[in-house]
Amino acid sequence: MARQTTIVGNWKMYGSRAMAERFVAGLPAEASAVELVVCAPAGLIALLAPALAPRGVGLGGQDCHPHAEGAHTGDTSAALLADLGATYVIVGHSERRRDHGETDALVRAKAVAALAAGLTPIICVGETLAERDSGAATAVVAAQIACSVPPGDVVVAYEPVWAIGTGRTASVQDIADMHAMLRGLVGAETRLLYGGSVKPGNAAEILAAANVDGALVGGASLNPAEWLAIAAAALAR
Ligand code: PGA
Repeated sequence: MARQTTIVGNWKMYGSRAMAERFVAGLPAEASAVELVVCAPAGLIALLAPALAPRGVGLGGQDCHPHAEGAHTGDTSAALLADLGATYVIVGHSERRRDHGETDALVRAKAVAALAAGLTPIICVGETLAERDSGAATAVVAAQIACSVPPGDVVVAYEPVWAIGTGRTASVQDIADMHAMLRGLVGAETRLLYGGSVKPGNAAEILAAANVDGALVGGASLNPAEWLAIAAAALAR
């Protein structure tokens, strides 16, 4: 079966009720042939679920706890995200690995918890600039895949850390090389997204690269017009 092209917006710690309402108002009523998913702050999931569903736009969280429930103040369970209407959750984003010291083992446990709750985890991997400059990018990313991706229906996002929010993107050749390596590791069924400064102006060439099944979009996903332009580039490929 062909892999579904998927454009995921990662709102990070941006947004408000008013922003979410403006965003939804900027979406077309018709569902796109490309799968669109908004990964919103946990506090906006309940608000967005009934607004996005009729437009055919999916919804995801940005993190979940590895345990199903328990005494973990401030954390969000995968089951709650699912209960509120999410079907996806990002795990192992480099900002969480950096800000919260998340290890591959923890990321894997979160992905397992997501699967157990019926969510599709979007598992992020990617090397730092120092790792790329030292020639270790492929080995680093391969190790992250080995240690943070459980078996099951998952999505993998390759996001070179140095390309996130910096306006720098990996070259199309670097993306294609990394995604070819990843395809060999994850198999033919698993969707592979690229993330890191994807914008309307560079989306077409990135999405045309072999083994790129879509994009994980940060900054440009906060504006529906920019995000939809990226989706349009995905449709045209
Ligand atoms: P960016 O973020 O598009 O703003 O670079 C991507 C991400 O962190 O998922």
